[in-house]
Amino acid sequence: MARITASVYTSHVPAIGAALDLGKTHEPYWQKVFAGYDFSKRWIQDHQPDVIFLVYNDHATSFSLEIIPTFAIGTAAEFAVADEGWGPRPVPMVIGHPDLAAHIAQSVIQDDFDLTIVNKMDVDHGLTVPLSLMFGQRDPQSAWPCPVIPFAVNVVQYPVPSGRRCFALGQAIRKAIESYDEPLNVQIWGTGGMSHQLQGPRAGLINREWDNRFLDRLIADPADLAQLPHIDYVREAGSEGIELVMWLIARGAMADVAGGPRPRVAHRFYHVPASNTAVGHLILEN
Ligand code: DHB
Ligand code: FE
Repeated sequence: MARITASVYTSHVPAIGAALDLGKTHEPYWQKVFAGYDFSKRWIQDHQPDVIFLVYNDHATSFSLEIIPTFAIGTAAEFAVADEGWGPRPVPMVIGHPDLAAHIAQSVIQDDFDLTIVNKMDVDHGLTVPLSLMFGQRDPQSAWPCPVIPFAVNVVQYPVPSGRRCFALGQAIRKAIESYDEPLNVQIWGTGGMSHQLQGPRAGLINREWDNRFLDRLIADPADLAQLPHIDYVREAGSEGIELVMWLIARGAMADVAGGPRPRVAHRFYHVPASNTAVGHLILEN
């Protein structure tokens, strides 16, 4: 049986990818950001997953306004790194896990969640920046350490899914993974956030208090946090702060939500600024 051993949460700011790709990580501004991931890079060496189920959002890269899936699971054998306007990031292509992905699609759809099945998709900074943060910079000709199942959530075009639905979906994903007949060590990652607004009169909005309270509640009482309405995210954490609903998918897949023991907080980090965003990062172990 496959097991979810840990969940990882992190922001996915594209400028972090650019800082890595352009060799700027030593600059004081970026050093303070990357310092928060020193522990994480060591931790993941000691906790190597067999597969990562990576919840992220596509930023109008693979999906345009022509087709807007609310939840999309990548079932392909591989996913190319997207060109977001400056050429693809110089990182390895993403290898999928079609068999586990198909199994999860089967289980979760029969559990009444309508997933879009995607057999071809390029992956943007929402997915590659978290991989770079956790595994460090890698030769584009090499490979990421393990297969990744991309799971894209629409948080770009309203209506977007509620935190409550995301939390329930995480529980269905846990059930799906635990019914897979191979002893895989699976991590689930929730990405995006924390507070940021990239547009309009409030562009640049950051809310440290709200973000830290979100982290507290995500750890201690995610079922209650999942009840938070969209308007609170947008008002308090900015228009792009809504990306945080994706963290509730990963949290909903943790053991305590299914009646098991509480997760152990292996790491917690918060830093402002990185580009226009407050960077939040958490590692929870089952
Ligand atoms: C920024 C953050 C994001 O989450 C994103 O998708 C694009 C830009 C930023 O901070 O600049
Ligand atoms: Fe984003």
